[in-house]
Amino acid sequence: MNISQITGIFFSPTGTTKQVTEWIAERIAADKEAGWLDLTDAISSRPDYTFNEHELAVVGVPVYGGRVPETARERLKKIYGKRTPVVLIVTYGNRAYEDALLELSDILKEQGFLPAAAAAVVTEHNIAHVYGTGRPDEKDKKEMTAFAEAVKEKLKHTAGSTKLPELSIKGNRPYRLYATLPLKISVTSACEGCGICIRKCPVQAISRTDPKVTDETACITCMRCIALCPKHARKLGTLVTLAIRQKLKRVCTDRKDAEFIL
Ligand SMILES: Cc1cc2nc3c(=O)[nH]c(=O)nc-3n(C[C@H](O)[C@H](O)[C@H](O)COP(=O)(O)O)c2cc1C
Repeated sequence: MNISQITGIFFSPTGTTKQVTEWIAERIAADKEAGWLDLTDAISSRPDYTFNEHELAVVGVPVYGGRVPETARERLKKIYGKRTPVVLIVTYGNRAYEDALLELSDILKEQGFLPAAAAAVVTEHNIAHVYGTGRPDEKDKKEMTAFAEAVKEKLKHTAGSTKLPELSIKGNRPYRLYATLPLKISVTSACEGCGICIRKCPVQAISRTDPKVTDETACITCMRCIALCPKHARKLGTLVTLAIRQKLKRVCTDRKDAEFIL
């Protein structure tokens, strides 16, 4: 198969999914220049995108509660393929990815894409940073590079996009129910009102006039405002953080390896 253009598409509030998607897409693209489509920012009127059968899409989303984040799902629904091969990527914080990769595959098939390969990559947990700390690490990066090489080979030997065999992706249908986390972000007096959090919130949950006010019904607890605040003024409560860390201890402590499906 001759691929004319490779586009990395990602939803990545705290940047690790972007990093993983770029790593893999750039290595598949090799000497070609990859294009990028960032679905993270809130844009008032998001255009539709359509990819053709000679292109390759590399799509990355983080795992939230074993699922594709609803915001990412909504935004992917504006992206169409015409039997376009796609590489699916989920990133997760060393707990589990559960139904997320299967769900991502289902969403993109519905949008006209043909899954060619898939990966579930472990990252530092962006709520409980003590888990998956420093991931993806050197071992993960080596494996992601080998995966990109294998994808290139696979596509080279695929006569036409119609010939891609079904991938064997773990997960269940119906997908597990997504339970929102009871997280509340507080703002300390260190906030100088610079407005980065207002501009970068993926769902415009922070008041345009007062960054100390967050609409908790709109907030998706993605941790982006906490990660981006230059004054470190936005925080999760210490007790909540400790409780989450404790709750995740049993399921997050052992190292999980990235998984690659071809
Ligand atoms: C709301 C929320 C739910 C999460 N749920 C899971 C999960 O079910 N399993 C897991 O291993 N990590 C989970 N994580 C960790 C993220 O999947 C991980 O940190 C991800 O790489 C973040 O991607 P980003 O940096 O692109 O935003 C969750 C994080 C958030 C913010």
